[in-house]
Amino acid sequence: MLEERPEEDMTDNGISKRRLRSQDWFDNPDHIDMTALYLERFMNYGITPEELRSGKPIIGIAQSGSDLTPCNRHHLDLAKRIRDGIRDAGGIPIEFPTHPMFENCKRPTAALDRNLAYLGLVEVLYGYPLDGVVLTTGCDKTTPSALMAASTVNIPAIVLSGGPMLDGWHDGELAGSGTVIWRSRRKLAAGEIDEEGFMEASLASAPSIGHCNTMGTASTMNAMAEALGMSLTGCAAIPGAYRERGQMAYRTGRRAVELVLEDIKPSDVLTRPAFLNAIKVNSAIGGSTNAQPHLAAMAKHAGVELHPDDWQVHGFDIPLLANVQPAGAYLGERFHRAGGVPAVMWELLQAGKLDGDCPTVTGKTMAENLKGREATDREVIRPFAEPLKERAGFLVLKGNLFDFAIMKMSVVSEDFRRRYLQEPGREGVFEGRAVVFDGSEDYHKRINDADLGIDENTILVIRGAGPIGWPGSAEVVNMQPPDALLKRGIRSLPTIGDGRQSGTADSPSILNASPESAAGGGLAWVRTGDTIRIDFNHGRCDMLVDETEIERRKGDGIPAVPPDATPWQRIYRRSVTQLSDGAVLDGAADFRNIAANPPRH
Ligand code: FES
Ligand code: MG
Repeated sequence: MLEERPEEDMTDNGISKRRLRSQDWFDNPDHIDMTALYLERFMNYGITPEELRSGKPIIGIAQSGSDLTPCNRHHLDLAKRIRDGIRDAGGIPIEFPTHPMFENCKRPTAALDRNLAYLGLVEVLYGYPLDGVVLTTGCDKTTPSALMAASTVNIPAIVLSGGPMLDGWHDGELAGSGTVIWRSRRKLAAGEIDEEGFMEASLASAPSIGHCNTMGTASTMNAMAEALGMSLTGCAAIPGAYRERGQMAYRTGRRAVELVLEDIKPSDVLTRPAFLNAIKVNSAIGGSTNAQPHLAAMAKHAGVELHPDDWQVHGFDIPLLANVQPAGAYLGERFHRAGGVPAVMWELLQAGKLDGDCPTVTGKTMAENLKGREATDREVIRPFAEPLKERAGFLVLKGNLFDFAIMKMSVVSEDFRRRYLQEPGREGVFEGRAVVFDGSEDYHKRINDADLGIDENTILVIRGAGPIGWPGSAEVVNMQPPDALLKRGIRSLPTIGDGRQSGTADSPSILNASPESAAGGGLAWVRTGDTIRIDFNHGRCDMLVDETEIERRKGDGIPAVPPDATPWQRIYRRSVTQLSDGAVLDGAADFRNIAANPPRH
């Protein structure tokens, strides 16, 4: 529960009785010269000094939409409704841009930019006269970077998701973001469709404004924001094009002002129980494997202890309830109409799997928010007792190849389960021959080389794809088998890598391996032809190579990775931690609640 706030903090005609942070800029008798400087340039677009000096909360709108971030672009319009809400609740809106991040387009990967956007937003929230902020989110990294920054600065903050695109259709079938591309790529390789058909199906998945309509990383991270208690109830799943999205923008703007008046800060909401709730919700929605590094990063910046094993201990046994691609059948619209994130959380709460006492930005507890939120479509959101899959969380693995990696159980197909997890006589233990690729160029060049001898007993390994190696960590571990195998109907091989995979992928990869090869992790020493043993029952993954041989190979040095291409790449590589740890900037988490001490004039 939130602590009771002292009476004198409460609202009086929308004007705070507490001295607000922004008044240190705009109403500061000790610095009258500075106050004039701070005030005057806002006049040039029509804000009056009286408004800025009135003691009304000044609410930033962290605008993540732009032509370069198409998934979030409609926030440019939604901001009008956010402003209306802020004004109606007695606040003053001030909108500013955040660093653009477009998952599908930024090379070498948008993941490189998450920490950069984080740094930029920290400086803005800290260095300008803002009392609270609406964080507009959507595309994958826009959500974690915003919440990481909100924790560091710790001014009242609320997430407004942009919502998914409408459902895509192609040839009478649902065409979901990303997922249709991975599936069509297999069909193309197997000769079932041509390049034109591939392009058509892929483009059909994006029929409107909004972010990816599958349960990829965007939908997942917005669901995580809601599960953590950082957005209004039901916010995450409303499609971007629905009228409810504009209404949600208005209500979020209003609530941002109240958060300032009630002095509810991210640190009140982002607690360990909230993060454990989020991990469980991620399992139940069949969420992205990228939730692991992003939640780790958000927890780090919130000062919350979140252990990599928490995914196994708290998340693994949770069943899959949301029938949404890539783990299920449907897309964002049906998911929203079925009740969205609150309906999934309602199931978990009834089953005793959720901490309902967690405070949220609504000012109520999570359990209070979820009252009456039962699902309305059981085809799309299953009852807890009749899930799509049991034990649908992430399996956490370790061994001599890495200290930590995860495997998303909700996308393990029946075929894969039969071949690798349930083969009679060695249930859950698989030994295969490693074929190792150094980066994705190497994979694309050689995957169809018959001399590699890739068959059903092969384990594909990719390295040089982690935070330091790529740099940024790339979504490349969902390696497709060679065309010859696809033509024989073998859809996926076991794959292992120190990179990530798209949240829209339906591959049962062992990924996010930490430490990565470029940091001297075990993957650096594996060679093509080695036997790798995966023990799914005990969460082990080892190369069956003896210690002296591994020591000898260390003499060969760490496999090379490309040089730094930009100044930021160099800064990033020198200070980034591993995916197990959230790939945050080393030392950045030492800074918390920094708004408590105003910056010098
Ligand atoms: Fe932006 Fe998927 S590419 S949300
Ligand atoms: Mg992605």
